[in-house]
Amino acid sequence: MAKLFVVGVGPGSEDLVTPRAKKAISRAGIIVGWNLDLEPVRSLLDGKKLFIQSVENYRSVARAAAEEARGSGRDVVVLRIGDPCLSSGLKGLLEDFEGFEVEVVPGISSVQLAAALAKVELGECVVVSFHDYGDTQEKKEFMTNCLKSGKHVFVLSGAELTVEGTAAYLLGVGFDPTTRAAVFTRLGLEGESAEFTTLGEVATKVHNWLSILLVYSPKKAVSRFTRA
Ligand SMILES: C[S@@+](CC[C@H](N)C(=O)[O-])C[C@H]1O[C@@H](n2cnc3c(N)ncnc32)[C@H](O)[C@@H]1O
Repeated sequence: MAKLFVVGVGPGSEDLVTPRAKKAISRAGIIVGWNLDLEPVRSLLDGKKLFIQSVENYRSVARAAAEEARGSGRDVVVLRIGDPCLSSGLKGLLEDFEGFEVEVVPGISSVQLAAALAKVELGECVVVSFHDYGDTQEKKEFMTNCLKSGKHVFVLSGAELTVEGTAAYLLGVGFDPTTRAAVFTRLGLEGESAEFTTLGEVATKVHNWLSILLVYSPKKAVSRFTRA
């Protein structure tokens, strides 16, 4: 029986792909992923059968790859940017590959890279994703409550809520425009940037969709070593 590997490829650059991820990719005959997921490992994909996902077809493409793997007995790798256990549609994927033996190969998440750049303790932070499952309004309120109770918040912006939309929402519910924030864009990829700024400033600009917003809790003292 073919095996499914769900492989995290890190945030973007090839030197952040783990040896374990490279090994799983090199052994598989079938590769599934969105174009962005393929980016850090392009050099490893020659000769593989590729199933490219997009917003219109990602479930049907995953099911087609599952059929191909069942028919051919070849192992299949689903690539995911960052870590596959963070906002990567893992639940749906496991349904689409029902019956397969599954191994998840962790990757370095974009959130870990952003935390490293900001030099913040992840234990003092919460991650909120506006990409996948869940009610958007509930997530907005959760984010607000976390900030009010002293947790810094990493926001994975998405179609549901952009970086600037998140900042505008927080200003709308009463956060001060001078609240400290940072925007990390295209980490590990061409055009990478990290901007340490304020919520008021973030709300005034349009940001690249591949960005993470960090909002520092006004309740929490920020260490003098933390960039903010
Ligand atoms: C579908 S989620 C995938 C998250 C991914 N599994 C991870 O662990 O980083 C996509 C969101 O993650 C963030 N993201 C992923 N890769 C990024 C990168 N290289 N630079 C900045 N943000 C990134 C952005 O907020 C983006 O909208």
